[in-house]
Amino acid sequence: AIPFLLQSLLFPLYSSCLHQTSDDSSLFPSDFFFGTASSAFQYEGAFLNDGKGLNNWDVFAHENPGKIVDGSNGDIATDQYHRYMEDIQSMSFLGVNSYRLSISWSRVLPNGRFGGINYKGIKYYNNLIDALIRKGITPFVTLNHFDYPQELENRFKSWLSSEMQKDFAYLADICFKHFGDRVKHWITINEPNQQIILAYRSGLFPPSRCSMPYGNCTQGNSETEPFIAAHNMILAHAKAIQIYRTKYQKEQRGIIGIVVQTSWFEPISDSIVDKNAAERAQSFYSNWILDPVVYGKYPEEMVNILGSALPRFSSNEMNSIKNYKSDFLGINHYTSYFIQDCLITACNSGSGNGASKSEGFALKLDRKGNVSIGELTDVNWQHIDPDGFKKMLNYLKNRYHNMPMFITENGFGTLQKPETTVKELLDDTKRIQYMSGYLDALKEAMRDGANVKGYFAWSLLDNFEWLYGYKLRFGLFHVDYTTLKRTPKQSASWYKNFIEQHGNIG
Ligand code: NOJ
Repeated sequence: AIPFLLQSLLFPLYSSCLHQTSDDSSLFPSDFFFGTASSAFQYEGAFLNDGKGLNNWDVFAHENPGKIVDGSNGDIATDQYHRYMEDIQSMSFLGVNSYRLSISWSRVLPNGRFGGINYKGIKYYNNLIDALIRKGITPFVTLNHFDYPQELENRFKSWLSSEMQKDFAYLADICFKHFGDRVKHWITINEPNQQIILAYRSGLFPPSRCSMPYGNCTQGNSETEPFIAAHNMILAHAKAIQIYRTKYQKEQRGIIGIVVQTSWFEPISDSIVDKNAAERAQSFYSNWILDPVVYGKYPEEMVNILGSALPRFSSNEMNSIKNYKSDFLGINHYTSYFIQDCLITACNSGSGNGASKSEGFALKLDRKGNVSIGELTDVNWQHIDPDGFKKMLNYLKNRYHNMPMFITENGFGTLQKPETTVKELLDDTKRIQYMSGYLDALKEAMRDGANVKGYFAWSLLDNFEWLYGYKLRFGLFHVDYTTLKRTPKQSASWYKNFIEQHGNIG
């Protein structure tokens, strides 16, 4: 038997372990947000309805059907434009208290600054926001999620020009003005890092700009343009915050932040060069955006490696980003990669998310001997590695002085093959396994002190998954694209149950 003194010393430890494994409810405070996430282009459809203008993705998908796996486009998507009331019912079924949506820029401003406001577009978002609030669902509104008026591409090459900052600031102003009485959670831009890498490095997303060896485009420069576009996005973000703080905050009292894509980068070996490479990978991926947003400067590694290819902030710009800070960080997280050094040691060049020989690291899926970073899913970029999520949150906590964070996306994609049956899509046990692992990791990170305020599952419905069209399905609800009927998958019931057990949502 354990001596009494030792017992009493051990008891608090023991009971705190008990607490950790059995009682999670206290982990999630009553104001914690459990939600689902979406974006305008992936959901709305209603292509040119009610005065919407053409956007970059409309044009890209129509002109290049071969670049999207099923040759599809966003003309109808999930038709949420006409079916949002039904979708809010689905949210009520889940018991979520929040919904992340984005504004279709060309629906409210068909030609950006160069034309009028489309009041039918404003009305649509007013109706959607009102209907959510009536059901007790808090809207989290992203101003820009990959789509922008084609006019801005045609006029000045969109994000490659500082003119885009003015257009974004104008969009932000219009949205705060029309929706800010009810919207209290704003996100400026969704995933600048991931969007830029695909649009200006590999050239896979519009405006299809890149250069060898990153991709084979007819125009662009993969070594310089990504950094110019990011610079404009960071400054556009700061301008939107400036408008919010100076014109609206006092009355509207909301919060505003940005969303980045994160991946956990695990050194492929214990060697110091691979460890440094993994740190460098973080710098060239999410810190690229978050360091300027939080600290007003680019990561040291980027400055050293890129030299003059990295734009500098003028002292005015530096002041503006330092003075107009985000209230929170929005974190999208799906997967992890091994990272191998390429700066000191030779390695095969990487692929995928921004890996680059000149930046000195390569992404790897396996260690020698085929030790995978996590179970491979249907898509080559996603592996199940909840532990990486926990490490990621811990890393962000430390690097960004534990700022409030929202997990603005996390989810699991199922690739629909010709032989896949609807029943298989509905019996999505793999998605449940993924979500349960990642939510457990979130709990652990929060126990370790990560300041996380909400979790949004990507996604409420199956939807238009960019280059994968309708073949890669992330929904908790299945969408039949012939009838547009929504059917809950097993994961919908699982998430509902999770929220019942963990949320204090009344
Ligand atoms: C992040 C993007 O924000 C979203 O649009 C996309 O559908 C998901 N990743 C899944 O790839």
